[in-house]
Amino acid sequence: MRVEHIGRATLYLGRCEDVLPTIERPDAILSDPPYGQKLNTNVTGKSVSGRKPGSGRPYAILDKRRKTAAGIHSTGVARQFPQGIAGDDKPFDPAHLLEAADKWLLWGAHKFGQRLPRGRTLVWDKVPTGKVRDQGDGETALCSVNPDAALRIYRLLWDGVCVGSAARHEVTAGQQREHPTQKPESLMAWCLSFLDLKPDSLICDPYMGAGSTGMAAVKAGHRFVGVEVEPMYFDAACRRIDDAQRQGDLFLQGAA
Ligand SMILES: C[S@@+](CC[C@H](N)C(=O)[O-])C[C@H]1O[C@@H](n2cnc3c(N)ncnc32)[C@H](O)[C@@H]1O
Repeated sequence: MRVEHIGRATLYLGRCEDVLPTIERPDAILSDPPYGQKLNTNVTGKSVSGRKPGSGRPYAILDKRRKTAAGIHSTGVARQFPQGIAGDDKPFDPAHLLEAADKWLLWGAHKFGQRLPRGRTLVWDKVPTGKVRDQGDGETALCSVNPDAALRIYRLLWDGVCVGSAARHEVTAGQQREHPTQKPESLMAWCLSFLDLKPDSLICDPYMGAGSTGMAAVKAGHRFVGVEVEPMYFDAACRRIDDAQRQGDLFLQGAA
């Protein structure tokens, strides 16, 4: 197991089942675990590369500049991820997360919601574009705080695997994709607002991926603990959370 301390964040390279019992009890778990959807992460799509799915070299970087539908000149890259997503080959069981914190907000409720207690439904609408998305046009989360409160929707166009050269909006255009199911940082920041948190709370993402939850948490001034089992995603999370923390601190200094 590797541990990195990055300002207010502590990141573990390892299995969360091993790490969670050893750490301070978090105030909330905010996570996007493997959904059990057997996602093929080795496909960039013809719209990006013109290659047949899976024909690229490992970690292929495919860069094609063109004017997108939204009029944006994208300079981003699309990538293939032959290492896939650990645990995505079987249904996800959230039981151990429900024991690890009193407050939780978990994405993937449309896949494993029947294994969760009652919770408030949150929806991410990726905005239909006419293009068929492998990962669907939206996702749902359940939140343990205020379970009877109204359903809320976050609407943010997200091109999924076509982030980068085929991206049609300002959020992903020009960015490098770090993870096959990367969540927008702004979506995770929105999630924090439903968890009724005090300043300097400890937020945990046991299935951290490339670290979008951690970026949102440290920028909001919280402490963060993240766990990721795949070294390449872990390294991306370390880098992205470090950058986010510097940006957040600069903002706070400017405001003081
Ligand atoms: C759906 S992805 C999370 C993506 C993340 N939200 C992001 O924005 O990058 C789930 C992650 O959990 C990791 N994972 C799977 N099993 C794990 C385990 N037992 N412990 C820690 N991480 C695990 C996978 O490697 C994958 O990166």
